[in-house]
Amino acid sequence: MDLEGAKRVGIAAAYQSAKSIMSHYGRLTNVQKKGPIDLVTEADQASENVIIDTIRAAFPQHAILSEESGWQEGNDNWQWIIDPLDGTTNFAHQVDLFAISIAFAEKGTLRVGIILNPVSGELFTAVKGQGAQLNGRPIAVSKTSVIADSLLVTGFPYSITAQLPIAVPQFINCLKASQGVRRLGSAALDLCFVACGRFEGFWETGLNSWDTAAGFLIAEEAGARVTDFAGDRFDIQKKEILATNGYIHAAMLQLLQVEEMQCELI
Ligand code: IPD
Ligand code: CA
Ligand code: CA
Repeated sequence: MDLEGAKRVGIAAAYQSAKSIMSHYGRLTNVQKKGPIDLVTEADQASENVIIDTIRAAFPQHAILSEESGWQEGNDNWQWIIDPLDGTTNFAHQVDLFAISIAFAEKGTLRVGIILNPVSGELFTAVKGQGAQLNGRPIAVSKTSVIADSLLVTGFPYSITAQLPIAVPQFINCLKASQGVRRLGSAALDLCFVACGRFEGFWETGLNSWDTAAGFLIAEEAGARVTDFAGDRFDIQKKEILATNGYIHAAMLQLLQVEEMQCELI
């Protein structure tokens, strides 16, 4: 498979999607709830249609997994994994942190990752074995080796209420140990920001393959270590992710090992 061709089509799909998403920005008429705090808008759906149409036109035989419409039939040797709008809550509130995330996998191995923030114009890309780029320039994780000098980022799943007894002590540990903890609201951008050295570490639970596929490859290609909370290599079927610059990984694994906090304390 020609990975440059896949990358070109994925980037074209991301820019088509960006045009569509921005035409809805600040003008939403249809915000629905998939769960109590899990939003979906006409922009998510429109973005997904544009991306799928672009990929289908170039690669009619490929399989596609996309957040809003699930699996589209195709040859499983070639799979696209798409989050048409990562950071929908930010988008709905006109906070400029959201992205389009498109990954391509061949025989189960991630090969191409593309993440575009349509507001900032930042395009993060990676091809397996060829490093990661931001707007065409190579990127790498930060060299900060001390957790006390590290800026971290996390996210909370839509099921956060049930996760609080674990999520809160993890958050407290990381807050106390680091220079600060941010919560951007887009897992795809969180992973890209670790990849380009803005953050030293990112952790989150409850994610799906479309949230992590492209960002996982981009982070690894930029030199990040990406595991679950037990320290085993991450794969996109896993729900929990820890991505760091490598230097602070062991320290963060320790910080994430917590006892459940008693509910009355929360
Ligand atoms: C969400 C974002 C958010 C993360 C949630 C994701 P969505 O994706 O990535 O940062 O905390 O867990 O579900 O719903 O905006 O595509
Ligand atoms: Ca998402
Ligand atoms: Ca989404």
